[in-house]
Amino acid sequence: MRIRKERIQKDLEAINAFNATPEKGVTRYTFSKEHQGALSYVVEELRRIGVNCSFALGGNLLGRLAGSEPSGPGVMMGSHLDSVAEGGRFDGTAGVAAALEAARVIQEGELSHRLPIDLVVFAEEEGGRFGWGLLGSSAWSGRITPDQLAQIKDREGVGYLEAMESAGVKIGDASTLNPESLKAMLELHIEQGSILESRNASIGVVEAIVGIKQLIVTIEGSADHAGTTPMNLRRDAMQGAVRIISAVETVARQEGSGGVATVGQVFCEPGQANVIPGLVRFSVDVRHSDGSRLEAMAAGVAYMAENVSKGRNLGCRIEVKAEAEPVEMTPGLCDLIEKVAKGKGMQPVRMASGAGHDTGIIAKISDAGMIFVPSQAGRSHCAEEFTKVEDIALGAEILLETVLELAK
Ligand code: HGY
Ligand code: MN
Ligand code: MN
Repeated sequence: MRIRKERIQKDLEAINAFNATPEKGVTRYTFSKEHQGALSYVVEELRRIGVNCSFALGGNLLGRLAGSEPSGPGVMMGSHLDSVAEGGRFDGTAGVAAALEAARVIQEGELSHRLPIDLVVFAEEEGGRFGWGLLGSSAWSGRITPDQLAQIKDREGVGYLEAMESAGVKIGDASTLNPESLKAMLELHIEQGSILESRNASIGVVEAIVGIKQLIVTIEGSADHAGTTPMNLRRDAMQGAVRIISAVETVARQEGSGGVATVGQVFCEPGQANVIPGLVRFSVDVRHSDGSRLEAMAAGVAYMAENVSKGRNLGCRIEVKAEAEPVEMTPGLCDLIEKVAKGKGMQPVRMASGAGHDTGIIAKISDAGMIFVPSQAGRSHCAEEFTKVEDIALGAEILLETVLELAK
């Protein structure tokens, strides 16, 4: 009994049918009806193979395959089903589908394993709804406290816990993830870049995950009449913000290949064509594989923001939202994934991840590894995102074998 790609294809289609923007990409915000529909599909598929599910702290779904030593530390496999706005059909979803198919093969084939194997679907990995990425895994692993979680709201002012409750998510075990209860975390994910495709390789072994700092910069001036206010009397928040936003690109380009920075969100108040903007708020997503360079880049952005604001008599506030230090995957796990892939005649490529992942958060308290599968033209976080189901099935074979080896 081996991985069957047609069942993975069916999972991908069934999960992506739960989509708020079917006319453009996939939008599935945490605890939305689309997200709950996708989760219910996974719960039903697991129930069919005799696996019961529960929700852990932070709203993460867990399905446990008991094993012959049910009290032993678990081997966790999975990913996330929440998406960015108008994102792709494979980011997170490929990893959940691969883990689901691996669970089917284990259960149907009655493949023995000593340690429990947990299928996990992390909540709010993208931060698309609550503006705070890697949130479900951060809450579960104790990286953010329940009080902090209770403060987090979406753009409509709906709190994380409130949204969880209205989605009918009832936490079974509200304790933080105990490192003793977890032997290893494994995630299959699409690469979201073009290294594998350029090397004509079908499997990537992730050795490290980039560090991320997400800032929110607020520039305050004075709203005023667009027609009657002379240019030299304005405190135009937009004119300050655009100069800072263009400096963000300069800071990143000066870093060379290791660093990137993105301004993805800009809000302008009051946002009227005939009113000088009184306030502009924008996001800055800074990433670097080296922690000290990441700090230096963020400091460079802050320096520019304060300098431009002072020169224009504008107010400037900088808030650090989500952040995650660069993290190494467990060398022994990288070796095991590589050995399993080579055993199947593949030539896996060792690489770093420029995207953040929940496995990077779990890696702070447990052994952790990631398997990458190719992204067509490296595209991701867009409707064009594509990965061949054959590649996901190959990756799922490696996930299955690696998990069984760890749970032996
Ligand atoms: O932003 C990221 O790197 C991930 O897709 N959440
Ligand atoms: Mn993503
Ligand atoms: Mn992802």
